[in-house]
Amino acid sequence: MATITIEVEAPASNPRHTRLGRWVDEAAQMCKPDRVHWCDGSPEEYQAMLRLLVQTGTAIPLNEEKRPNSYLVRSDPADVARVEDQTFICSRTKEGAGPTNNWEDPAKMKQKLAGLFAGSMVGRTMYVVPYSMGPIGSPISKIGVEITDSPYVVVSMHIMSRVGSHVLDVLGEDGEFVRGLHSVGAPLAPNQPDSPWSCNAQQKYICHFPETREIWSYGSGYGGNALLGKKCHALRIASVQARDEGWMAEHMLILKLTSPSGQAKYMTGAFPSACGKTNLSMMIPTLPGWKVETIGDDIAWMKFGADGRLYAINPEYGFFGVAPGTSMKSNANAMLTINQNAIFTNCAMTPDGDVWWEGMTDHKPAKLIDWLRRVWTPESGRKAAHPNARFTAAAKQCPVIAPEWEDPKGVPIDAILFGGRRAGIVPLITEAFNWQHGTFLGATASSETTAAITGKEGRLRRDPMAMLPFCGYHMGDYFAHWLKMGVHSNASKLPKIFYVNWFRQNKKGEFLWPGYGENSRVLKWIFDRCDGKVHAKETPIGRTPEAADLDIKGLDIKNADLDELLSVDVEGWKAEVPSIKDHFAQFGAHLPRELNAEVQSLEQRLQAAK
Ligand code: OXD
Ligand code: MN
Repeated sequence: MATITIEVEAPASNPRHTRLGRWVDEAAQMCKPDRVHWCDGSPEEYQAMLRLLVQTGTAIPLNEEKRPNSYLVRSDPADVARVEDQTFICSRTKEGAGPTNNWEDPAKMKQKLAGLFAGSMVGRTMYVVPYSMGPIGSPISKIGVEITDSPYVVVSMHIMSRVGSHVLDVLGEDGEFVRGLHSVGAPLAPNQPDSPWSCNAQQKYICHFPETREIWSYGSGYGGNALLGKKCHALRIASVQARDEGWMAEHMLILKLTSPSGQAKYMTGAFPSACGKTNLSMMIPTLPGWKVETIGDDIAWMKFGADGRLYAINPEYGFFGVAPGTSMKSNANAMLTINQNAIFTNCAMTPDGDVWWEGMTDHKPAKLIDWLRRVWTPESGRKAAHPNARFTAAAKQCPVIAPEWEDPKGVPIDAILFGGRRAGIVPLITEAFNWQHGTFLGATASSETTAAITGKEGRLRRDPMAMLPFCGYHMGDYFAHWLKMGVHSNASKLPKIFYVNWFRQNKKGEFLWPGYGENSRVLKWIFDRCDGKVHAKETPIGRTPEAADLDIKGLDIKNADLDELLSVDVEGWKAEVPSIKDHFAQFGAHLPRELNAEVQSLEQRLQAAK
């Protein structure tokens, strides 16, 4: 194969920002790329990168009539998801990272990484990607620069963040930015053809240095491992910035819910990866007259405004959603968002040049090329798309994106939802008694795991605030930060906190709640609770609706199922308490005493219950 030439002009490489220029020079000296390209974020640059990806066989253009300007990319089977085992928080002390993170001494890790990065970009182009997380100019936004040798990362960053020279203008001569260095770890020998998906199958390291606001990511080109603005910056590093500066960086969707009378409320929701955040954030309510609009589907940055209310922005610019299970029935707005200008990764391809994944249609196509490039038929007995196959598309393409989604001041949050997948025990909806109790509900959140992480499907794990893989410091201190945020403001101005579980099952393993658009019935109860307009019953675990408090008009559900969904299984909860205590025990002296007090109160309430 002939050597591929780069068709993009390199803009001026010397920024006014001396520290940035010096860092890029140092990275180039270490990684030894053949060329350095400063990204300007232009549509021309995006198209040039895609042409390059097509030439190297990384991307396949999809049928232009069916899905204009869209591409399918298939990764190496050794690079399909976030690698939590290889993700490190290299804070100065092990205690700083806490018991839920992998830790390594920063100097030692830097030494190891310097060895790996030395010459890692030989034969490749080093791209410098200046990006803003959040609307440019918002007081809540932050700037980062990702250096990468992957054009797939460049196009994905174009979609997922605000990339370009205007970011350098905001940075000026001395602005602060998060430094992200990324390499797929696959240097090319002279005349060695590039492979369709370059990565390092043997070694992957996703490392964060919170004190110096740095990310070093080696060996993977996939999603959260490689698009450093997302999980690495907007959650792991940002959670530390948020702690230090008094705000919140959370793994949360943001939605706007409007009632039939035109009143709007904003809600955020923290659910572990692949538990339906994207679906909920753009859901079509089945309740007549109610409307959901999207602000964000994965990350929320929240700051208190001068009026004492908590305001949220979506720091991202696009969606990187899990494809399998997404259909016109489960999430029509996501399907419409990805009709054009989209990148699909690890999906299957139809004979007419479109994409397909499990759950997209009622009937499976007769023939496909699966994500591993093999011929596939329904009889093949394996999945055609990888379970963590993804779509990437600009948020502004979403038909229900809220007009204010880029408002620099953010949107005022009325309710915060926590949740996860639990087959038993956890009711459909529970309201926290107050912020402290809500922090306890978030801190003890649990879920049966999904394919978003390598090799860990179907196990129950506690995933506090859905931040277990994303908190950049000691989780006990993170809980303390949540409690501190709660005393920042007058209780009446704080969002109310709720816990939802769409996934409760009966003894036969069938879901009791239909989910999707029917979740609007639960959102309506939450909406009305925020105004104190609907009844709730006090239970040992929080406040829940009685069947009559939920609007179930037109819903085909058995009374017995609804009762079970809303019931509090006191014995089941008593059995749950030891696992909560075990979970909390790992945080030692860092566990805020308020949360221990919440466990004791829960136990007392359960003892007192009949
Ligand atoms: C994601 C994740 O990709 O949480 O959003 O894994
Ligand atoms: Mn996520």
